[in-house]
Amino acid sequence: MMRDFEGKNGVMQFGGMSTVDIAEEFGTPVYVTDENIVRESYRRVYNAFSRFMDTEIHYACKANTNLAILTILEQEGSHIDAVSIGEVLTCLKAGFTPDRILYTGVNVSRDELRQVVDTGCRINVDSEGELEKLADILGDRCKGFPLSFRITPGVASGHGTKVMTGGKGAKFGVPYDRVMDAYARAKELGFDIKGIHAHTGSGGNTVDPFIDVVEVLIDFANRLRDELDIHLEFIDFGGGLGVPYKPQEEECDVEDLGATITDMILEETDVKKVCLEPGRYLVCDSTILLASVTDVKDAGTKLYVGTDIGFNTLIRPAFYDSYHHVALANKFNKACTAKYDVVGPICESGDYIAHDRILPDPQEGDLLVVYNAGAYGFSMSSTYNSRPKCKEVLVKDGKAELIRDAETMENIWRHQIVPERLRR
Ligand code: LLP
Repeated sequence: MMRDFEGKNGVMQFGGMSTVDIAEEFGTPVYVTDENIVRESYRRVYNAFSRFMDTEIHYACKANTNLAILTILEQEGSHIDAVSIGEVLTCLKAGFTPDRILYTGVNVSRDELRQVVDTGCRINVDSEGELEKLADILGDRCKGFPLSFRITPGVASGHGTKVMTGGKGAKFGVPYDRVMDAYARAKELGFDIKGIHAHTGSGGNTVDPFIDVVEVLIDFANRLRDELDIHLEFIDFGGGLGVPYKPQEEECDVEDLGATITDMILEETDVKKVCLEPGRYLVCDSTILLASVTDVKDAGTKLYVGTDIGFNTLIRPAFYDSYHHVALANKFNKACTAKYDVVGPICESGDYIAHDRILPDPQEGDLLVVYNAGAYGFSMSSTYNSRPKCKEVLVKDGKAELIRDAETMENIWRHQIVPERLRR
């Protein structure tokens, strides 16, 4: 079931606080994260695997790179899945040591690879071309340099085609039928081969793709041992654990997943460590997005609730057609009246947050809450239509703190240059 929250005197409570008080103190739009939920989610998924075998959780930080949230996960003992030098530097800034960061790029430039090497973090190689580039950069230092490969497992999953990554012919990973050759080449170059990795996609809610991909990884781990005398330390089966976005949607049984996957690895291989890279699972339902109702319009064939959030603030509905549950936080659990489309201030007809939702008589000034906004919410936001990015707030046990201030027009203008000859 989707995580829901309590109401008190008709006001939604979050992290021990009234959402109306949070909105009054910080204004809207604002992303609000409950620290306790982030910690709980981390512990739940870590325990589900670590009670059976050595486990590393590599938080896929693309979901949410706020430094405060990274710091919380650092304290919990998480590792990191980083996809860019920017993410690597951000995680170092949040206190992760380089050995806890695994960089998995795609179409990585030589320059970026060099910078990543300089940070000392671990590298998961995505292609044969990247391997040769890395060998060039390292020269003699190839000997003993820890390495793993991302492979294309031929297993795809996810909430939509835009986020499926593991199918045959995907742009990610070493193609299935060349995996053994890639490992043989890495061995020849003297690398210290540590593991194998695949990621099937994001946000699916069945366990089958995880089982399928782990079968593929197990098969390669055993072939590497038998044919190339390569003994892997870890199998990393990527991220993709879904969370329920709809009230009645079932959640993925992580305890069952942990028991099943670890049993497969322990029974069928000599590999002693499992790694997984949840992004969404760790941060999604820890965060709500609070917005103000700015206008209510009867367009004849449709009723619209206009708000101060558009696809600049939360792009998932417009981009993926993703469902996000919405409610009026100041009329929480009130009897509902009619169906509305919830839309934003962006001048495109594709700008929407929710379609056909029954809401309790929305009025200008009401407080709209969007659920499950912690993963790929702020991190995919933009300044389109020259709207500066919004605030982020962290709550814990009834106290709220700002963890990102709103941007201003200065942020939008700062790096632009009007050539002298155009000025009068
Ligand atoms: N590992 C790799 C290699 C990935 O590419 C991703 C996500 C993850 C782990 C984490 O996946 P998660 O556990 O969060 O599902 N913007 C989209 C999701 C894109 C995910 C891209 N890769 C969305 O808003 O649904």
